[in-house]
Amino acid sequence: MGGSTAVGGHKRGMFSSNFGFLLAAIGSAIGLGNIWRFSYMAYTNGGGAFLIPYVIALLTAGIPLLILEYGLGHREHASAPLAFAKLNRRTEWLGWWMPLFVMFGIMFYYQVVIGWCANFVIFSLDLRWGADTQEFFLKKFLGLTASPGELGGVRPLIAVSTGLMWLGTWFITFQAVHRGIERACKIFMPLLLLTTLILVGWGMTLPGAWEGIRYYLMPNWGKLLDLKVWMAAYGQIFFTLSISFGIMIAYASYLPRKVDLVQNAVITSLTNCIYSFIVGFAVFAVLGYLAMAKGLPVDQVIKAGPTLAFVVFPEAISKLPFLRELFGVLFFSALVIAGLSSGVSIIEAFTSAVTDKFKISRKLVVTLLCVTGYLGSLVFMTGGGLYWLDIVDHFLNQYGLVLAGLLQCVFVGYILKAGVLRRYINKQGRLRLSKGWDYMIKYLTPIILLIMLVRSLTGEILKGYEGYSTSALLGIGVSWLLATLTAAVVLSIYPWEPSRLRADHVPESDELFR
Ligand code: ALA
Repeated sequence: MGGSTAVGGHKRGMFSSNFGFLLAAIGSAIGLGNIWRFSYMAYTNGGGAFLIPYVIALLTAGIPLLILEYGLGHREHASAPLAFAKLNRRTEWLGWWMPLFVMFGIMFYYQVVIGWCANFVIFSLDLRWGADTQEFFLKKFLGLTASPGELGGVRPLIAVSTGLMWLGTWFITFQAVHRGIERACKIFMPLLLLTTLILVGWGMTLPGAWEGIRYYLMPNWGKLLDLKVWMAAYGQIFFTLSISFGIMIAYASYLPRKVDLVQNAVITSLTNCIYSFIVGFAVFAVLGYLAMAKGLPVDQVIKAGPTLAFVVFPEAISKLPFLRELFGVLFFSALVIAGLSSGVSIIEAFTSAVTDKFKISRKLVVTLLCVTGYLGSLVFMTGGGLYWLDIVDHFLNQYGLVLAGLLQCVFVGYILKAGVLRRYINKQGRLRLSKGWDYMIKYLTPIILLIMLVRSLTGEILKGYEGYSTSALLGIGVSWLLATLTAAVVLSIYPWEPSRLRADHVPESDELFR
C-alpha cells in the first residue's frame, strides 16, 4: 500500500499503483484453488466435460460478479459489511456473512493444505514419497481413517507445518506489509508459472500423456446434462476468483478514483483462469501416464479427489530426468507462497470488516484471528481431517459462495440498482459496460445460480453427497453455514458511528499514482 486517506476519522490504506492492486488481486485469486482444487474438480467432473461449464461460469458469473465487487468496494470506499450497510442497513448481514464463513471455514482447511505443501517442500529433498505416491500421501502422511466420525488424533507433522503457516500469515498481516506480499508475489508468481510450464512440457513427453490430455480436452457431451458438473464449475469459479469472499470489495476500496475497474476485472479473471488451464495439462499428462502404468482408465486412477495434486505432482517430479529435488522444492515453495498470498487476503478482508465497524486495533484483530484460526484448523489435521475438508469445502463453496453471489446480485441489482453501479463504473475508466451487464446482474446470473442451488440441494437431500451419511453432511456442512449466518446477523445489528455511513471523499488517481 502506498498511502492512506482519512475517512470519517478512520484511516484507510491505499495501493501505491494500479499494478500493485492487480498484483494483490491476482495474488488473492491465484492460490491453491488453481492447482490443488482446479485439478481435482476437473478430474472428478469428467475432464473435458468440466471445461465447458467452467468457461460458461466464468462468463456468466465470474467476470460480472468480479466487476460488481470491484465497483461496490470502490464506490462505497468500504469493506463488505460497510459497503452493504451503506446500500441499506438491512443488507449489512451479507457483508458479514461472506468474510465470516470464509475466515471461519474455508481458511481453516486452506491453511492446512498450505501446511501439506510445506511438508512436501521437505519431502522433495529426498523424494520421500517413493514409488507409490498415493499410498504415501493417504496412509503414511495423512493417516487417513475409515470415516469422518473417526478422527484418529492430530498428525504431528501437519500440526507443525500448519502452525508455521498460520505464524507466517500472522507475521505478514500483522505488520500490514503489503509491500512484502507484493514483492513475494512478484518473485514467486513467475516462478510458479515457470515450474508449472516445465512440468507441463516434461509431462507431455511421458508415455500415455496424450491419453490424459485427450480426457482433459475432449468434451464429454453426456456429462453436460449432469447438474453436479455445472454446480462444481460455478463453485470453482467463485473459489478461484475469490468471489463472495469479501476480499475483492475490500481491495477495491483501497483504490483511488479514476481507475479502470472493468479492465482490472478482466485482467484478474483471465490471468487466473488461463493459469489453471495450463496447470491442467501437467495434471492430465501425468494422469494419462499413471493410467497406462496401472492399466486403468484415466478416470479411475485416483481415489480421493482432494489428494490428486499431492499424488500426481510428486509422481511427475520423480519422473524428471534431472534436478528433481530442486524442482520439487521450487514447485512446492511456490505453491506455499501462492497459498499464503491468498490466505493473507482472507485475513485482510475480515480484519478490514471488523476495523471498519469497531474501534479495535488491527494488530489485535489479526492476532486473535490467527490464534482462533489455528485452533479451528485442528480438526483438519487429524486422520479424519480429509473427510471434513471434503464436506466443509463442498458446502461452503457450492452453497455458501454461490448463495452469497446470488444475494449480491439481488441486493446490488435491485436495491442499489445495477444501472447506478454501471454508470459509476463507466465514469472511472476507458472500458465501458453496456446495459447487458445490468441484465446479467438482475436476471441471468441470479436465475442460473438459483436453479442450480435448488436442484443441487434437492438432489443431495434425496441422494446424499459422495456416500457420506446425511447426519455427517447436515451436522458438518449445514450447521457451519447456519452458525456463521447467525453470527453475521448479530454483528450487523450492532450500530455504526453515524459518520461511517456517510459518503467519503476519495482521492483522484493522479493525486496518488505518480
Ligand atoms: N482464490 C483463492 C484460490 O484459488 C482462494 O486459492
